Amino acid sequence: MMRAAGFVAAMWVALLFVSAWPSPAAAEPRGEGCVTCHLETGDDRLEKPAKEFGKEDIHAAKGFGCTACHGGDARAAGMEAMDPAKGYIGKPERAQLTQVCGRCHSDARFMKQYNPSLRVDQVAEYVTSVHGRRLREQADPKVATCVSCHPAHAIKPPSDPRSSVHPLRVADTCGRCHGDAKYMEPYKIPTDQLQKYKQSVHWKTMSVKGDLSAPTCNDCHGNHGAAPPGVSWVGNVCGQCHTVNQEFFAKSVHAKAFTQMGVPGCAACHNNHEIRETSDAMLGTGQATVCAGCHAASDKGGKAATDMRGLIDGLRGESDKARAILLQAERAGMEVSQAQFDLNGAKDALVKARAAVHTFTVQGVKKEVEVGLTISEKAYARGVRALDELQFRRKGLAISLVIILALIAALVLTIRQLDRRGGAPQGKTQETRHG
Ligand code: HEC
Ligand code: HEC
Ligand code: HEC
Ligand code: HEC
Ligand code: HEC
Ligand code: HEC
Ligand code: HEC
Ligand code: HEC
Ligand code: HEC
Repeated sequence: MMRAAGFVAAMWVALLFVSAWPSPAAAEPRGEGCVTCHLETGDDRLEKPAKEFGKEDIHAAKGFGCTACHGGDARAAGMEAMDPAKGYIGKPERAQLTQVCGRCHSDARFMKQYNPSLRVDQVAEYVTSVHGRRLREQADPKVATCVSCHPAHAIKPPSDPRSSVHPLRVADTCGRCHGDAKYMEPYKIPTDQLQKYKQSVHWKTMSVKGDLSAPTCNDCHGNHGAAPPGVSWVGNVCGQCHTVNQEFFAKSVHAKAFTQMGVPGCAACHNNHEIRETSDAMLGTGQATVCAGCHAASDKGGKAATDMRGLIDGLRGESDKARAILLQAERAGMEVSQAQFDLNGAKDALVKARAAVHTFTVQGVKKEVEVGLTISEKAYARGVRALDELQFRRKGLAISLVIILALIAALVLTIRQLDRRGGAPQGKTQETRHG
């Protein structure tokens, strides 16, 4: 089945290039004929492309004119400019687009003159996608074509923030169809992807934190091969970025069990479009956990879940305790910055332990937790010592204060005594003088 489909697709792509379509010509001097006349037609449908193209489109910026896609004679001023004998094709049919665009974009040698790093697999990928297959096999007028995602006269590179395929705008571009229940009605597939995706940690990472390394639709589905990630390779999709989780998961008891059950890997516990921030509360056998969906508290998996949660809670508790005592010492003016720095190791261990949950073995989690516990214990002990030291210093200070106060008191007393004694000799001196 797969092979036959692949073969047909290959034939199809091959056909593109033996067809009578002319090979691309490098940017020719842009004739003003098409634009000038179109701007004068007074018909919005004919004027809009002429207005948009010049100021919005990368092809215009690279020196191409209307004829790059429509053919015709750019130098002619009259209606003969649109003479089919001069290659004019009119408004391209949907099924024609792979040829119109692919004429250049599938031609590696031609594209290299402009941008050597640009991929040239868009058509090849597209024709194997659900979109491309339905268009070819069923002439489905609703699926996405090149110009559904790249507006025909305002095409911009993905790096341009105004582009329909800029990472921050892809979701809306796909969602225009996939989020429209009425439009998608004939297909009986969910239409909640956009709405759910916009609740996800991935969208928040991208839109709020401005971190464009988080995925949008095409990172999981492919730019041009928009096929739904099959159950067996959901992990690979996520694993492009979450390598550690993926490696653990792939070796775990679940990887095989889930494939047999037809459960979609990572998405079974994290969802696919509405992936949320994780927390320790997901782990264990309580109601809010993801394990409870399949494991009873008493079965092997359930028991392991409880133990793993216990280990992680334990480490979190110990490292919090250590952090608190060091903070107390720091606020009291003790020097504990080294210990505070060392305690970051416990935080790292906690991160690793949470990833090691994906081994789905108690041992895997324990290994990381133990590292963290050792660090926490050392840090806590340092905190205790710092506070002891503080206590000692305070006692010392108190004693010295007492001594100083006693000395002052003694001094005051002595002065007073001296004063009192000093009063009599003064009288005597007077007496002596008089006498
Ligand atoms: C003298 C005026 C004039 C010139 C020059 C001209 N056009 Fe047109 N064009 C029109 C008019 C009027 C129509 C609408 C009538 C029609 O479809 O034939 C039209 C229609 C079109 C359409 C839409 C066809 C459809 O099926 O909806 C395309 C595409 C087009 N022109 C492209 C071009 C290109 C490319 C050039 C330059 C090579 C060009 N035009 C030159 C006047 C002109
Ligand atoms: C990169 C390829 C490309 C270039 C360059 C291009 N067009 Fe088009 N044009 C298309 C495609 C594709 C369509 C069909 C869009 C659709 O089906 O929605 C189209 C449609 C049109 C239409 C019909 C619009 C309608 O709504 O029916 C006109 C008119 C037109 N183009 C004129 C022009 C003119 C004038 C220029 C030059 C200023 C130009 N095009 C440059 C690809 C191109
Ligand atoms: C005459 C050749 C030609 C045709 C026809 C053509 N393109 Fe292009 N396209 C180019 C060239 C050259 C570039 C500039 C590449 C660069 O410098 O990055 C480009 C750039 C692009 C880009 C931006 C890529 C990037 O990252 O720079 C997109 C998207 C694109 N074209 C889509 C289309 C679509 C969709 C069609 C059909 C409607 C089409 N092109 C038709 C030659 C063509
Ligand atoms: C379902 C939407 C969709 C369709 C259909 C589509 N594209 Fe794209 N295209 C994208 C997205 C999304 C990107 C951005 C990829 C990225 O971020 O690098 C893109 C990027 C491109 C680029 C830039 C280079 C690259 O591959 O990243 C070119 C060129 C391009 N598309 C051409 C085409 C052509 C030609 C067709 C028709 C055969 C087509 N696209 C159909 C969504 C689509
Ligand atoms: C012009 C409307 C339109 C746009 C834009 C569009 N799609 Fe589609 N898509 C469809 C239609 C219609 C189908 C066919 C539904 C089916 O066969 O179940 C489809 C099918 C799919 C499927 C297969 C669903 C399944 O399980 O059958 C995926 C995945 C998909 N699209 C992803 C995307 C992505 C990702 C984007 C954006 C990069 C996108 N689409 C843009 C209309 C669109
Ligand atoms: C983090 C990865 C990821 C992102 C981002 C993503 N998807 Fe999906 N998508 C999946 C997975 C996984 C499936 C389910 C595959 C399965 O169950 O076999 C899926 C399924 C689908 C389907 C099939 C119908 C369904 O809902 O099960 C469509 C259509 C679809 N996605 C469109 C989109 C669109 C549109 C976007 C952007 C708004 C998007 N996806 C973003 C991973 C992703
Ligand atoms: C293109 C890269 C990429 C892909 C593909 C991807 N992610 Fe992410 N993911 C990220 C980034 C970036 C973040 C946010 C930064 C972070 O917290 O790690 C994130 C965050 C997450 C989080 C939240 C982590 C936390 O600390 O709470 C989960 C869970 C997650 N992704 C699961 C998945 C799943 C499941 C898939 C596949 C269906 C997937 N991701 C696909 C990049 C990706
Ligand atoms: C989609 C259902 C499903 C979910 C959700 C799930 N498991 Fe499992 N788990 C299984 C299946 C199926 C097996 C293998 C069959 C068995 O129990 O022997 C398994 C086996 C295990 C095992 C090995 C038990 C043994 O026999 O040694 C552990 C440990 C485990 N799971 C832990 C977890 C943890 C922890 C969670 C939550 C984070 C979880 N599981 C969530 C279905 C699930
Ligand atoms: C059986 C359920 C289950 C499966 C399957 C699963 N996870 Fe998780 N995942 C969890 C649980 C539970 C947590 C929370 C652990 C914690 O915080 O204590 C988590 C946490 C995460 C985190 C945040 C912690 C970290 O390591 O950064 C990411 C990212 C993540 N998972 C990605 C994935 C990916 C990618 C896959 C597939 C390769 C996957 N998960 C498969 C249950 C699962």
